[in-house]
Amino acid sequence: MAKTREKQADFGYRRVPLEDKQAMVDDVFHSVARRYDLMNDLMSGGLHRGWKEALVTAVNPPKSDASFNVLDLAGGTGDVAFRIAERAGPGTRVTVADINAEMLAVGRERVAKAKHDIEFVEANAEALPLPNRSFDAVTIAFGIRNVPRIDVALSEIHRVLRIGGHFLCLEFSSVDLPGLDRLYDAYSFNVIPALGRAVTGDAESYRYLVESIRKFPRPEKFADMIRAAGFRRVSHQSMTGGVVALHSGWRL
Ligand SMILES: C[S@@+](CC[C@H](N)C(=O)[O-])C[C@H]1O[C@@H](n2cnc3c(N)ncnc32)[C@H](O)[C@@H]1O
Repeated sequence: MAKTREKQADFGYRRVPLEDKQAMVDDVFHSVARRYDLMNDLMSGGLHRGWKEALVTAVNPPKSDASFNVLDLAGGTGDVAFRIAERAGPGTRVTVADINAEMLAVGRERVAKAKHDIEFVEANAEALPLPNRSFDAVTIAFGIRNVPRIDVALSEIHRVLRIGGHFLCLEFSSVDLPGLDRLYDAYSFNVIPALGRAVTGDAESYRYLVESIRKFPRPEKFADMIRAAGFRRVSHQSMTGGVVALHSGWRL
């Protein structure tokens, strides 16, 4: 009898059983959680701050007390949620959802120090424990490529957005500028894992990060996936020579 073919997924450059990928991703973020924010600053030379600010500008939370519900999915240590809360008026409620308890614990500690009212929920993007049509905006920054079934997560995001709600996704993209591409590859494969080893004691997690970026679909293909989940007026904007892209789609 023919053996049933096991579904597989990319884990960086490795092919692994689809069912195993999430646990492997969880190990990565469990390992780096305490140094995650510091590493982002070091790896990107602070650029991630500007990319996240561009994301928050696109969310455009009201400054007034008008009610506005935002979900920051795969929100980890709450870095994007903090930025939204800082720019928004008193009517905005921000929820962070992430599958990793350790990342959320770091976020909760940050919230305890700041005065922001942010809710943290431990949840899998593929099965959100959140009601239909309950958010005005859903953001996800550098999270979607870690999710084993991206199509399922996109459907869940669509489900929890209200009609007229906005989905914004910041993700690494494809550097195509001649010259910059080789520099970027050399930096990514040589410097980032070494930096990861020096700062977190874990080079492998940062090798996964670099490889997973290379395996993520090109922006046009990812835009098609967003459309396939039911979003309309889908667009994307490349930043920093294609290092990242900001994707946008609406539930209409
Ligand atoms: C690179 S971090 C991004 C964190 C944060 N959004 C930021 O930009 O700083 C990726 C996050 O995705 C989360 N993640 C991975 N798989 C997930 C899933 N299936 N559901 C929810 N979160 C997930 C990880 O736990 C991790 O916190």
